[in-house]
Amino acid sequence: MKTCATPAGEFESSDGLKAICSKLGDRDFCADLGLRYPYLGGSMAKGISSVAMVEELGRAGMLGFFGAAGLPFSTVEAAVDHLSGADFPCGFNLIHSPHEPDLEKALADLYLSKGVRLVEASAFLALTLPLVRYRLHGIHRLPDGTICVPNRIIAKVSREELAERFFSPAPEKFLRELVADGSLTAEQAELSAHIPLAQEITAEADSGGHTDNRPALALFPTIQSLAIRLQARHNYSVKLRAGLAGGIATPSAAAAAFAMGAAYIMTGSVNQACRESGTSDEVRRMLAETRQADVSMAPAADMFEMGVTVQVLKRGTMFPMRAAKLYEIYRAHAGLDDIPPAERDKLEKTVFQASLSTIWQLTRSYFLVRDPRQVERAERDPKHLMALVFRWYLGQAAHWAKDGESARKIDYQVWCGPAMGAFNEWVTGSFLDGPDRRTVASVAQNILYGAAVLTRANILRYQGIDMALEASHMQPLEDTQLKEYFS
Ligand SMILES: Cc1cc2nc3c(=O)[nH]c(=O)nc-3n(C[C@H](O)[C@H](O)[C@H](O)COP(=O)(O)O)c2cc1C
Repeated sequence: MKTCATPAGEFESSDGLKAICSKLGDRDFCADLGLRYPYLGGSMAKGISSVAMVEELGRAGMLGFFGAAGLPFSTVEAAVDHLSGADFPCGFNLIHSPHEPDLEKALADLYLSKGVRLVEASAFLALTLPLVRYRLHGIHRLPDGTICVPNRIIAKVSREELAERFFSPAPEKFLRELVADGSLTAEQAELSAHIPLAQEITAEADSGGHTDNRPALALFPTIQSLAIRLQARHNYSVKLRAGLAGGIATPSAAAAAFAMGAAYIMTGSVNQACRESGTSDEVRRMLAETRQADVSMAPAADMFEMGVTVQVLKRGTMFPMRAAKLYEIYRAHAGLDDIPPAERDKLEKTVFQASLSTIWQLTRSYFLVRDPRQVERAERDPKHLMALVFRWYLGQAAHWAKDGESARKIDYQVWCGPAMGAFNEWVTGSFLDGPDRRTVASVAQNILYGAAVLTRANILRYQGIDMALEASHMQPLEDTQLKEYFS
């Protein structure tokens, strides 16, 4: 084998790297969406993936999704209005809300009425009418015979059954309903048999927030294989594509995703740690200290009763422990009055810092405005009342974190996956080490550039050139150094 003693610096500055940076992923995907790079910033609830983050990614030739979940309707509307004049691609989260179907419908209607052309559909357990209506709205045939679908869905899933539904045409039963209520003409319904509900699916492996902790190496090939199989089955005129999310925050992870054939990569946890994210400086500081094992699963506020969990930070906060305790109590008792007095007392003093009846009054007032049916049900069903009270804590814990409420630091709920620890280890000793200089664009460019370095090193290695590992392990570069590759 020929040995090449190329020093890292010389290797990295080579012209070929710029070419590789611009060839990663699926170029047709980039062209279809108007992107320069196959790098997507995933939606992060409550505006954590903020308007500023979406703008920064967009200006850097990448794609950001605004984190609409859990925000008041008016805030989402303002974000849509703000970004509607953008001269770069951007998208919005359409999150499934099994407990609040009206909310999901309202969000889909808002996107339709404002002409939003791209959504990230996530947390879906099954397809829903608002989702199908969004996708098929305005479908028509062009004079040359091709089918034009103005609205695009990039679906994020971690289960193959669901991926198959998204890669298939809309189900008949929804088409019948949409034709019946006048949302579609019979001709449009017929056209929809020739297009997938989602042309792209992001395979979501072990990530921050909602995750079923699937390993990327097992999940991605399955979703990709489905794309190939369903493409052949339906003989679509467009190409089905799979991207990968979950655990990506380093050049190695990105290079591995592209080597597996990912059309694009999506990041989340690492973006929350960046300056543009809609969280607090306190959380950014905590995230900068996070290591691999500093995350754990905890009950989710939105699907608490179903036992659904989310991945959160455990270092520096007692949230995962306290939330798990609440779930345990919920499972064991029929209602608040059934909780043993000593236990109840402890909850009121530590977790809630108020009496449970006060918390119920706050919760009641909130739901009387948002969804009065919840109050009616809770007043009939003590177990539901208990769930709503416990969900108050879970919901507030995310707000305390996002708002940097220092008196409640011990209760912060910070959604975060192991990618954060991987990133922190990689950037140790560089300008990205602390929270202050982390921007989404410079993090993204460093990940992509590093992936290009690794990819090139592997190509050379397979050609018989003995590359030292250090030559392909790059430290993050300053924006001025990266300019050469991303201009
Ligand atoms: C703070 C945070 C909030 C998130 N909120 C949402 C959300 O509201 N909707 C969604 O589709 N995904 C959400 N995600 C998932 C991300 O969009 C992305 O898919 C995931 O973070 C990628 O994996 P990673 O965390 O390993 O980078 C969230 C992730 C984080 C870290």
